[in-house]
Amino acid sequence: MRVLLTGGAGYIGSHTALVLLEQGHQVVVLDDLSNSSRESVRRVEELTGQEIVFVQADLTDPHATRAGLDDIAFDAVIHFAGLKAVGESVEQPTRYYRVNLDSTLVLLDLMRERDVTRLVFSSSATVYGDPQTPLIAETHPVGVGLTNPYGWSKAMNEQIIRDAAAAWPALAAVNLRYFNPVGAHHSGRIGEDPSGIPNNLMPYVAQVAVGRRERLAVFGDDYPTVDGTGVRDYIHVMDLAEGHVAALTHAEPGVQAFNLGSGVGTSVLEAVRGFEEASGRAVPYAIHPRRAGDLATVVADPALAFERLGWRTTRSFTEACRDAWAWQSANPRGYAG
Ligand code: NAD
Ligand code: UD1
Repeated sequence: MRVLLTGGAGYIGSHTALVLLEQGHQVVVLDDLSNSSRESVRRVEELTGQEIVFVQADLTDPHATRAGLDDIAFDAVIHFAGLKAVGESVEQPTRYYRVNLDSTLVLLDLMRERDVTRLVFSSSATVYGDPQTPLIAETHPVGVGLTNPYGWSKAMNEQIIRDAAAAWPALAAVNLRYFNPVGAHHSGRIGEDPSGIPNNLMPYVAQVAVGRRERLAVFGDDYPTVDGTGVRDYIHVMDLAEGHVAALTHAEPGVQAFNLGSGVGTSVLEAVRGFEEASGRAVPYAIHPRRAGDLATVVADPALAFERLGWRTTRSFTEACRDAWAWQSANPRGYAG
């Protein structure tokens, strides 16, 4: 297949591009580089020895998007493009809704015009809100009690895609609800390169280990968990990337939704220890109050993805730490050097 990756220069998109190329597909990346670097695409080309067609355009701009893709054919789309910082979404709700919703609307219109029917969308476990069960299955209610515009934008996108499929029965869409993506390609050539101070745990831990930041603030040690710190389902980004290819292959008319997670929970302190062991570096930390909007435990029931897509995680959290360290230690300032 020739696959258009919107936001394909970003963290998850670049790893997915690599897996697609390695499995014999062709890749077109459309990205405005608002949160990424052209260098990630170049490195995927270097790792695979194959070329990627790159288009720099803002997907929320229908004219720029059509002009950029004018003479470029594609058979399927993976839609990664969007804004993803939860705290920022609370401060800039209209910007988040505009980018995250307009990009999907422009894309769906373009797909209809071109009669491209296969779509995989980057959703998030955040659509489940506060979990009602220890493991979250796809049957869990979606869009109840969400606490931030980022989360709402994901739930709204899923609804937009369902409505589009109702009006266009050929559309074969898959909403992938990611749990917590971590790690990097084992080469250490591509990885997560957050701009500014990382919001998420693992990039912050990696920057402490490499000496870019002094200590980690652990947000709360009084949750009802194994050691009082928050528990999450961390998934190696290469497993996640492979999940996209499985979803593309199994897409069928209508809309499906799958969790991409491991089913294993890891606490903040367990994650810190895992990273210390993988890197051989100390990760100093201090306990701070809970972060507003945080949940105690968020872990996937990953059974449906295995049953329908034949996909499950094969890499451990320890491997994710080792690969994240390979990336962080070789690129202490990310793609900037
Ligand atoms: P990322 O920021 O690294 O990648 C997103 C890419 O989209 C970036 O390269 C950015 O430049 C591009 N982009 C943003 N706005 C654009 C626009 N208007 N036009 C064209 N390109 C645009 O983020 P990521 O971690 O790779 O996440 C990819 C997707 O997965 C996002 O939709 C995100 O919400 C979703 N997601 C991420 C996580 C996570 O923890 N990383 C978890 C759940 C869901
Ligand atoms: C965050 C987002 C969520 C998104 C997910 C995956 C929030 C409130 N939620 O979730 O919408 O889908 O990322 O990208 O931001 N932690 C610390 N210190 C830190 C950073 C985090 O102790 O400096 C803790 C958190 O309290 C949490 C765990 O580490 O218990 C994981 O945090 P994070 O990586 O931000 O992911 P989520 O909170 O799961």
